[in-house]
Amino acid sequence: MSDPFADVDAASPEFIEIMATALEVRAADPSMLPVIDGYLDRLSPPDGGLIVDIGCGTGGVTRRIADRFRRASVLGIEPSVALTDTARGLAGDRANLEFRVGDGAALGLGDGSADIAILHTVLSHVADPASLVAEATRILRPGGTLVVCDADFSKAALGLCQGDPLDSCARAFVAGSVTDAWLAGKLKPLAFAAGLTVAHFGTANRVVTDGMGNLVWVRMASARLVGDGVIGQPLADALEAEYMRRAEAGTLYGFLPFVTMIALKAER
Ligand SMILES: C[S@@+](CC[C@H](N)C(=O)[O-])C[C@H]1O[C@@H](n2cnc3c(N)ncnc32)[C@H](O)[C@@H]1O
Repeated sequence: MSDPFADVDAASPEFIEIMATALEVRAADPSMLPVIDGYLDRLSPPDGGLIVDIGCGTGGVTRRIADRFRRASVLGIEPSVALTDTARGLAGDRANLEFRVGDGAALGLGDGSADIAILHTVLSHVADPASLVAEATRILRPGGTLVVCDADFSKAALGLCQGDPLDSCARAFVAGSVTDAWLAGKLKPLAFAAGLTVAHFGTANRVVTDGMGNLVWVRMASARLVGDGVIGQPLADALEAEYMRRAEAGTLYGFLPFVTMIALKAER
């Protein structure tokens, strides 16, 4: 099953809108911010340094990086023209923030030109993560830092009991919208293969018990299943209504572990 995040612009405008909204909701979700801030707290870019956010989507995380490190330049690179347009539109007047269209495997930046490269929930959506890690390593200066933060989608859950239909949405989302649900366990070998030294490897659970933070699982799973003719729109509507009902009733329980790896390029 093809992962729509692997080629966003190939999707319909309606589906791109669902993905863009989902990325913005997630980047601002209170359950997500500690995961992002958990690695930003460990970074100290030099004044005038360059931070590259690879596969930045609509730029929700990139804006947070730019606001956190105002003395650094922050460059978001994203293959989707549609998401890059949205990112530019949401950038506001941040003077240290720029977005470009580009592929993570060919960034178009010089060797050693960046201080920090960040891959935030990108590698689980690409067929060849090693090529992106190698390219990120190439653009880092000696001593530069690679941050990879990704979900362990193999553990995603949204159920309250065995056979819960909302849990099926979590599974259908992962089956249809993630390229490698088991990527998290492969991160250290990917870093070693690129010649990097792992300085930090940690996990943090994102638990969603209210709000719209996991609605994307229901929306993307249902949209695909409706599109494939597996279910009808009334069931898709009912699944979304059930998500809303639980969010309102306080019985929502979404669970997803995130792994953060911080790896360093050798000084020389
Ligand atoms: C789940 S989204 C994450 C977006 C953003 N990092 C965030 O967390 O909000 C995955 C992103 O990876 C991008 N992507 C897919 N293939 C890519 C590639 N080869 N190089 C760089 N980015 C890629 C997608 O276009 C999409 O924006």
